[in-house]
Amino acid sequence: MAQIIDGKAIAADVRREVAVDVAALSSAHGLVPGLAVVIVGSRKDSQTYVNMKRKACAEVGICSIDVDLPEDISEPALVAEVHRLNADPAVHGILVQLPLPKHINEEKILSEISIEKDVDGFHPLNIGKLAMKGREPLFVPCTPKACMELLSRGGVTVRGKLAAVVGRSNIVGLPVSLLLLKADATVSIVHSRTPDPRSIVRQADIVIAAAGQPMMIKGDWIKPGAAVIDVGHIVSAAAEQDVMINGNGDLIKPGAVVIHDADIDSVDDDPAQPVGDVHFAEVSKVAGFLTPVPGGAGPMMVAMLLKNTVDAAKQGWG
Ligand code: GUN
Repeated sequence: MAQIIDGKAIAADVRREVAVDVAALSSAHGLVPGLAVVIVGSRKDSQTYVNMKRKACAEVGICSIDVDLPEDISEPALVAEVHRLNADPAVHGILVQLPLPKHINEEKILSEISIEKDVDGFHPLNIGKLAMKGREPLFVPCTPKACMELLSRGGVTVRGKLAAVVGRSNIVGLPVSLLLLKADATVSIVHSRTPDPRSIVRQADIVIAAAGQPMMIKGDWIKPGAAVIDVGHIVSAAAEQDVMINGNGDLIKPGAVVIHDADIDSVDDDPAQPVGDVHFAEVSKVAGFLTPVPGGAGPMMVAMLLKNTVDAAKQGWG
């Protein structure tokens, strides 16, 4: 049976470390890190994640600046809001929850966030630096960073390993592939046009499941002893999933994830009933290490956001 990498417990450790940093900033410099969390519209899964992020801020002493905007806000008005936050010295980090409504150009909005406050790491300059050898972005996107932290704190070595990333989304698949490469793994990315993804994933020592396709990764996709990190539920919450083709060559229906209304009462939990990409019952019998859903990458992603926000405040960029 696989060793379960307990994201909930590891995230709690990280939050304790962040809380110590926040207290030190406050006593040494009278500085309270501030994170602006912007949500447009009322998409249920986005609201759930945003509530988790805001609540987590409060628990470690970060000031959460809540910006709730209507679904029909114009693109220029949203840009103006981002500029206002860029100029606010009490705001050290800015996060615009994705996806945005269809009439708004996501790339345009992300490009308007000051790179020094880009705690989500999605500004093209930060992503560009992530892609280049010998360069470092100011911030690494939270979910990919969570994957790497879960591997290292879970005791999995990345250097010299074969890694397979399932999915090529801007928020997870692409950036986590770059991080794995920088950590000296040999990386394959399988996606909706890969003819036989299972045959590639089966060779991997490390699998990042980031397709947003519920339970697509079955036991026979996994090399015995491999480390498997499941972030499918986070990809589907960003509405970025591709249509994937399963090991039998069948199309898997996209958008099948249902995240139910959640009454989140703890930042330790993912949204109620999130569904990952991994068939847990099968894969846990084959893999060496596995993250559960919930209680794996979700809480760790939030913890990485807190860490990025404190790093932003430490730089005195606010
Ligand atoms: N939607 C799903 N995941 C994320 C994330 O990491 N950041 C933002 N801004 N939106 C998301």
